Amino acid sequence: MSKDYFITTAIDYPNGAPHIGHAYEKVLADVITRYRRIKGQQVYFLTGVDQHGQKMQQTAEKEGVNVATLAKRNTKKFVKLWETLGVQYDGWAETTAAEHKHCVQAILTDLHAKGQLYKKGYKGFYSVRQEQYLTEKDRGPDGNFGDEWGEVVELEEENWYFKLSEHAAWLKSTVESGAFGILPDFKKVEVINAIERAADTDLCISRPKARLRWGIEFPFDPDFVTYVWFDALINYISFAGYRKADGSSLPDFDSLWPADAHVIGKDILVPAHSIYWPCMLHAMGFSDEQMPTLLVHGWWNIKSQTGEEEKMSKSLGNVVDPAEIAEKFGVDALRYYLVRDIHSGKDSAFDLSRVIMLFNTELANDLGNLLNRSLTLTKRAPLRVTDYEDEETQALRKSLAESAARYQESMDRYEISIALGAINAHVVHCNGFLERNQPWSLAKDESQADRLAACLYHTCESCVHLAILLGPILPAASEKILGQLRFAPEQKLALADLKWGLLKDGHDTGKPKPVFPRIIIEEE
Ligand code: ME8
Ligand code: MG
Repeated sequence: MSKDYFITTAIDYPNGAPHIGHAYEKVLADVITRYRRIKGQQVYFLTGVDQHGQKMQQTAEKEGVNVATLAKRNTKKFVKLWETLGVQYDGWAETTAAEHKHCVQAILTDLHAKGQLYKKGYKGFYSVRQEQYLTEKDRGPDGNFGDEWGEVVELEEENWYFKLSEHAAWLKSTVESGAFGILPDFKKVEVINAIERAADTDLCISRPKARLRWGIEFPFDPDFVTYVWFDALINYISFAGYRKADGSSLPDFDSLWPADAHVIGKDILVPAHSIYWPCMLHAMGFSDEQMPTLLVHGWWNIKSQTGEEEKMSKSLGNVVDPAEIAEKFGVDALRYYLVRDIHSGKDSAFDLSRVIMLFNTELANDLGNLLNRSLTLTKRAPLRVTDYEDEETQALRKSLAESAARYQESMDRYEISIALGAINAHVVHCNGFLERNQPWSLAKDESQADRLAACLYHTCESCVHLAILLGPILPAASEKILGQLRFAPEQKLALADLKWGLLKDGHDTGKPKPVFPRIIIEEE
């Protein structure tokens, strides 16, 4: 089966528990996936974990456990969190899987045969934290290697290199032409500025086993394992079926590739995803048309005790646990906040009080009240379709049409926060409409029966549309709302089916039950 849209995320290092940055990226990809599906597209969503590398080996040594056991144990925490948060993927990439190893080794063999790899001695400095060799250019103005490199050691060893620099000129033209897409646009400029500096040296893609055992062995030189980034980047094609073994149940590569969106954070844009990855694909023989598109998101920072924004890091001990927040405040509150309070490509500061505030205002108060009032007012009699029309009903339909259009344009540009703003604008319009029309008073006046019917129809019909638009962001809440409205079409509605008049004359709505119960924080 051919797929219209192939989306991946970065594969997370399971050297600890998942944090809020991991959760954001997976929720973002899940929202995009679900949105593409209501657009009527066939979507394949791949995510997973990056289990090899020195960091994993070090954590295992520190904790005194076997590294494979550690990888397995921590991987479970990620899988469990995605289940809790409703992140529904189609493919799961674990880099210790035999199928992945098979693909990485096949690629190494091919590149070796093509003369793209060579072996060379190296003597110099190495950053343990960043798992990379340092050059003179990496020294700070004071002549030392900065703190960002962590522990720096002197090494002398032989290794395998990939002829990255041979692809630098091609890369520059491919990024400039847009054949290799980088979104949002301002990130493309960053990459163009980085290419010359980053692509002028070849890439060391092996580690001697004497120093690192936890990786994929070189098929033609068993004293070496594959550098973790070279191994990890390949997940995007190995789990999409590239060079798969006969009888493998992995997807059909040609119908999936290229990826329409590799969702990644800004820290892994340069050099891994914008330099190494396209050059690797180019060396393997991928054409310009077969280049993926990167979708780069910003960074969640943490507010410190003193109110300053600081980078989230395990050593600072300020990592926010998404599982705990979901447990305390609900999955809806967390999913909503994560895509509502960050603008695409930009950073944001994680603020628990805003998780609660946004849930209580935009969901419990605005949308929750609209639904509750609409259902309460229609409890007594079925909905009626009338010819009644006035400025208010016209304005309401115009508001919905504008919100739906803005929602769709924003979602297509991956601007989820703006799409949510569009949904909320119509919710607020509907609540104002109810205030102005006072259906609870109209109900007491027989002569206003048609106006009352039109009023109730307009808000109930709006709730149906709003629930469907909200579906990709809050799938469970969306279903609850549609359930209470007793709106159950035979087939799942696509965006194109969202035309006025989904609720038919005589439609009976259900009983209101709070979908977004207010979060109440007890004062300490
Ligand atoms: O980099 N805010 O894994 P990782 C937003 N294994 N996003 C964040 C974040 C934060 N505070 N912290 C991390 C790796 N991320 C590699 C990827 S892909 C072939 C290999 C994002 O666990 C980060 O940008 O350190 C990345 O996209 C993802 O979480 C995994 O980060
Ligand atoms: Mg990282």
